[in-house]
Amino acid sequence: MSTILITGANRGIGLELVRQYAGLGWKVLATARDPAGATELVALARADPKIIIEKLDVTDHAGVDALALKLKDQPLDVLLSNAGKTPRYTSAMQGAGTIDYEQALHSYKVNALGPAKLVSAFLPLVQKSGQKKIAVISSKAGSFVEGPPMSMMYEYRASKAALNMIVHTLGFETAKMGVVIAAISPGSVATRPVEGELGYGTNTRQAYTISPAESVAAIIKVIASLTPDQNGVFLDYKDGRVIPW
Ligand SMILES: NC(=O)c1ccc[n+]([C@@H]2O[C@H](COP(=O)([O-])OP(=O)(O)OC[C@H]3O[C@@H](n4cnc5c(N)ncnc54)[C@H](OP(=O)(O)O)[C@@H]3O)[C@@H](O)[C@H]2O)c1
Repeated sequence: MSTILITGANRGIGLELVRQYAGLGWKVLATARDPAGATELVALARADPKIIIEKLDVTDHAGVDALALKLKDQPLDVLLSNAGKTPRYTSAMQGAGTIDYEQALHSYKVNALGPAKLVSAFLPLVQKSGQKKIAVISSKAGSFVEGPPMSMMYEYRASKAALNMIVHTLGFETAKMGVVIAAISPGSVATRPVEGELGYGTNTRQAYTISPAESVAAIIKVIASLTPDQNGVFLDYKDGRVIPW
């Protein structure tokens, strides 16, 4: 049985990734910051013993190391970094004058340094596996070429551009280890905000959005067809084409 570890698995794209990978027969290590409050994930795990929930905040580096140690004998065919701080707060939608610098630093910690720490801690477990793949959910918002030509989401865009550079740089390391790492854009996905988050900027009102199910089905195909020569690239969920930085 193939095994995948998915971060941010309690809602949105992460929860759908759990649902679909488990449906395909994978063992799924589904991580959440607050497993007790992860109602939908807990319900999935109750119905399917292949889904195992672990507690993980990607900004808690000691916690990341502790989970990697706990799972040290578990080969990971796919390590999937999905957790992200999405731009659902007022300053994200306004001009540079309203940047919330605390939010910006936190976005960098969650979206860029979090995946870097995750990969460095779990790389030995990926190396032990059959498939040896790492997928990092990024965003076109972090692309200079294909990001929206608008002055918004400074914190988020900068954190995802930094993430893209981290994935690109990690690719040189993973290539030597027989592991492939790629960043993937999930498309514009209608995931729901939770209490305390703003409703706009969530894509839920935009006509061109796709469902989490549609995005995830395509992401799974892109991951399945990853090859070692794709190390350190940024791919589109839709067809696996390379997105320019
Ligand atoms: N939706 C889109 O249109 C879209 C577009 C481009 C890229 N993306 C990317 O796709 C990924 C998932 O997006 P989504 O729409 O599903 O977002 P979402 O609904 O806002 O869910 C975000 C997930 O990340 C988790 N998370 C946040 N901070 C964390 C931390 N410090 N440690 C661990 N987990 C943390 C959240 O957990 P809590 O419930 O505990 O907060 C939640 O599970 C993100 O990386 C996002 O940037 C999404």
